[in-house]
Amino acid sequence: MIKKDILILGIESSCDETSVAVVKNGREVLSNVISSQIEIHKLYGGVVPEIASRNHVMNIDGVYNEALSKAGVTINDIDAIAVTYGAGLLGALIVGVNFAKALSYATKKPLVAVNHIEGHIAANYIAHKDLQPPFACLIVSGGHTALVEMKSYNERKLIGTTTDDAIGEAFDKVARECGLEYPGGPNVQKQAQNGTPCIKFVDNINAKKDTFNFSYSGLKTAVINYIHNKRQKGEEINVPDICASFENEATNQAVDKSIMAIEKLNFDKIVLAGGVSANLKLREKMQTQAEKIGAKVYFPPINLCTDNAAMIASAGYYNYINNKSIVDPKTLVPTSNIAL
Ligand code: KG4
Ligand code: ZN
Repeated sequence: MIKKDILILGIESSCDETSVAVVKNGREVLSNVISSQIEIHKLYGGVVPEIASRNHVMNIDGVYNEALSKAGVTINDIDAIAVTYGAGLLGALIVGVNFAKALSYATKKPLVAVNHIEGHIAANYIAHKDLQPPFACLIVSGGHTALVEMKSYNERKLIGTTTDDAIGEAFDKVARECGLEYPGGPNVQKQAQNGTPCIKFVDNINAKKDTFNFSYSGLKTAVINYIHNKRQKGEEINVPDICASFENEATNQAVDKSIMAIEKLNFDKIVLAGGVSANLKLREKMQTQAEKIGAKVYFPPINLCTDNAAMIASAGYYNYINNKSIVDPKTLVPTSNIAL
């Protein structure tokens, strides 16, 4: 018997990207349409939840039609619909979830609930066709900083998490203090490329402790205090140096903890996931440090690091084929905060 290909339609609306994708067998992207609201939210220095929800409502129909037509399929060819149900902005999630529920109900296609972070991890399955669990995963996004052990496609164990802020949140706050536009992370990276990491903000004490947990609020506050102090004294601030120094300390902590986990828990692979995994310094350092201890590093291409529906469809595929998280379209509830 010839095994039939499985096509998953993915839907993502947890923050400021409306995205719909069609993915074959969890790994092959047939389409991945992303309507980004960055230009709109830039005007306010960050994502305005109410505006995000309204734009999702306006965009989702068009994005859905474009995703099907770019993939060269109709809804009849789709095996299951996968949607991000959390974590994220509640009003934004409601739009994607309601769209998916209605579509599933009307077409009688199974509905698969996907944890947004599960999606970020799955971006790596699209990029690296040979990648299979088990592996260690460093999740670095706007809302999360965590180390997890992927035991299988559907089983995760939390190794460590941030005790306060997420790394992406710290990048965005530092950018704002430096007068850089939203989204802060890529702009901090750009500035850092012209600076030197000559300012010491905090000792990386946390990394030396016997814990896999992270902390970013101390570093964030130290940078903010440094800038305020300079301004109070009427002194100029050197944005490239501040960005380079912050980026250096932020990425050192992420890498140190990951290497500690690889060594102590005997992993041979470390996988990076989430928006901050687009950071070039983080990639470079992780590659160098992991190589020294014989571990292999995986990260998604830049376009799959930030929010997109292809990663949701890929995660949805592994839920679907393993009969996990298949939910009733009448009762799925979007949830702003869910555990990893
Ligand atoms: O994963 P993501 O798209 O959204 C969440 O699920 O949170 O991550 C967005 C975060 C933002 O904080 C953004 O500033 C950060 O990822 N980011 C970066 C870079 N590109 C995006 N941070 C550092 N360097 C980058 N190149
Ligand atoms: Zn995300």
